[in-house]
Amino acid sequence: METAMKMTRRTVLSAALCLGLGFGIAGSAYAEKPVVLGFSQVGAESEWRTANTASIKDAAKQAGVTLKFADAQQKQENQVKAIRSFIAQKVDVIAFSPVVESGWDTVLGEAKAAKIPVILTDRAVDAKDKSLYVTFIGSDFVEEGRRAGRWLLERAKTMPAGDINIVELQGTVGSAPAIDRKAGFAEIIAANPKLKVIRSQTGDFTRAKGKEVMEAFLKTDGKKINVLYAHNDDMAIGAIQAIEEAGLKPGKDILVISIDGVKGAFEAMMAGKLNVTVECSPLLGPQLMKVAKQVLAGETVPKRITTEESVFPAEVAAKEFPNRKY
Ligand code: AHR
Repeated sequence: METAMKMTRRTVLSAALCLGLGFGIAGSAYAEKPVVLGFSQVGAESEWRTANTASIKDAAKQAGVTLKFADAQQKQENQVKAIRSFIAQKVDVIAFSPVVESGWDTVLGEAKAAKIPVILTDRAVDAKDKSLYVTFIGSDFVEEGRRAGRWLLERAKTMPAGDINIVELQGTVGSAPAIDRKAGFAEIIAANPKLKVIRSQTGDFTRAKGKEVMEAFLKTDGKKINVLYAHNDDMAIGAIQAIEEAGLKPGKDILVISIDGVKGAFEAMMAGKLNVTVECSPLLGPQLMKVAKQVLAGETVPKRITTEESVFPAEVAAKEFPNRKY
């Protein structure tokens, strides 16, 4: 009898414990534990990047994700340090926008060994081992370069006979957008031998550097320059200032083509100083939070998630401006 009683009590106790534990897991303690996401950002080099950071921070808040945010100030070594610190802190998931394409295998191998999934946003890495990251969410930079090239190819049809001299302001050396936007543009303009890139140099995606490099281009080539192709709006805006200071009219004496579609570019288009911007959306936050949760829930996500984007020529700038979110 006593044994039976004891057994019953033990059974009840273990059942209660099981239930309690089970309830705890399903009801709150574990299931509702917020996801911890370590995010390593490139820096704050452009209007685009500021909007991208805001999008990630806002989306994390909305999604109830605990965000550990680190700004790498455009230095790969800082990103490597941040990723290692996220691993040491045992975050649930790591996301980052790699400043340059190469040199990630070791640190991503460390994340993999620690069983922390990695999501790439905005920029790609050139790692051969694709299992080092779960997915890459971002724009097709080659296509953006092609879109810029196609705009010029069309415009060239209405330009006077003779060579059309282009100067190119490249993004950060070794970064995916700089490599891909250069390649996409070159691929398209090759169809018209009149279109010639006479100078191409990095402006590191910043206004200050864009202005400085354009000043140098203007000093050596001055009136020979017909077109500026800038890998982002910030460099184009810096260069526009240099063109004006040189006594020329941006958008008229020198056609200006750029990429991103930030508000500053729309303002420049409305002022007649920029001819076209190819959209590159920085609003990746909501998609990142969604994918991070799917990955942690064990769902399969596509290896590549491409952002949908448009091209905005100056002619539509005023109409589109009120709709711009960044
Ligand atoms: O990686 C995206 C690029 O980085 C944007 O075009 C540029 O503005 C930014 O700095």
